Amino acid sequence: MRVPPARVCFPAEDRAEILARIDQALITGQLTLGPIGRELEAAFSKRHSTAHAVAVSSGTAGLEIILRALGVEGREVIVPANTFFATAAAAVHAGARVVFVDCDPETMAFDLADVESRLGPETAAVIAVHIGGLISPALPALARLCRDRGVPLVEDAAHAHGSALGGQSAGTFGIAGAFSFYPTKVVAGGEGGIIVTDDDGIVEAARGYRDQGKASFLTNFHTRLGANWRMSEPHAAIAQSQLTRLDEFIAARQALAKRYDAAVEDLGLRPVPIPAEAHCNYYKYVAFLPAGVDRGVLKHAMRERFDIGLPGEVYDTPLHQQPVFEAFADRALPGAEFIGARHICLPLYPSLSESDADYVVASLATALTEMGLR
Ligand SMILES: Cc1ncc(COP(=O)(O)O)c(C=O)c1O
Repeated sequence: MRVPPARVCFPAEDRAEILARIDQALITGQLTLGPIGRELEAAFSKRHSTAHAVAVSSGTAGLEIILRALGVEGREVIVPANTFFATAAAAVHAGARVVFVDCDPETMAFDLADVESRLGPETAAVIAVHIGGLISPALPALARLCRDRGVPLVEDAAHAHGSALGGQSAGTFGIAGAFSFYPTKVVAGGEGGIIVTDDDGIVEAARGYRDQGKASFLTNFHTRLGANWRMSEPHAAIAQSQLTRLDEFIAARQALAKRYDAAVEDLGLRPVPIPAEAHCNYYKYVAFLPAGVDRGVLKHAMRERFDIGLPGEVYDTPLHQQPVFEAFADRALPGAEFIGARHICLPLYPSLSESDADYVVASLATALTEMGLR
């Protein structure tokens, strides 16, 4: 495919270094919970200005561990409807009831007024999700609201490595945040995730939960209902290597996004506005389609005529409309439904050339013209 929807970025020297580190782990036999994981934790917490980081097996595990540490079982967790399955699934696996709230099409994230209307005595936690790497400018107000109500705020920062708002890093606005190292993410680890927090209690609980709920690494004495949520050393080596390139990756993504911005508005699309105070890592480049465009037809034309794979949406079916969460779907959520129906994502990754980005825009213009929309 001339322009695939996503592409990992492992320069040759990084691959050589990763392989050398994995070789070392094979020689020593320290293949899990070892020095590479600890190095990743130290580097990640430093980069995101937190006291601690705890590496885990996935972003989903990170969320579930935080929620278990907060003791949400039998209570409610507020989740924005426009997010990935895992945000709500982690809450359900931790024993909570999910309360879905609406989302704001300006930011793709939680609608603050709707969160406020659903907070109550049963609320055990609120989760904010930084869709596409954008931290909503309403996040500080949400953090204040949660503080005033005595409810912990958790960040699902799976999309938001290196993102910030007003100079404050993703993962630091509430009690804890969870990032993902899934291969499509801005920092790819193959699999893996990491929890960041300043809270000593969450750190202690997380270290126990990730290792089958053991009281300590060397015992078989279990104090928590944990699981195997450990990160292996080979995975840590991959994520650690990628982390050293985070700023470079973000700069490349931002430059491409700027190029798209200049062009797509002329096509009648509305890019998600990035406020001046936001540092967005552009995990996704999101633009809203003009009314009347059939997204399926457009994506098909881009793929078949122009050999361009548009990435998956973030997200196309909001969670309150997913069959698996039917029990928690108590009302329509028009903001989330609008977001789900009306946006596309354009290919964006550090190795995408400027000429390929221009080719995407030119192809989009032709496709929209042929659909009679320009
Ligand atoms: C918003 C969001 N939350 C959570 C996750 C789960 O991360 P992982 O795949 O590492 O479990 C993802 C990953 O795709 C995500 O996009």
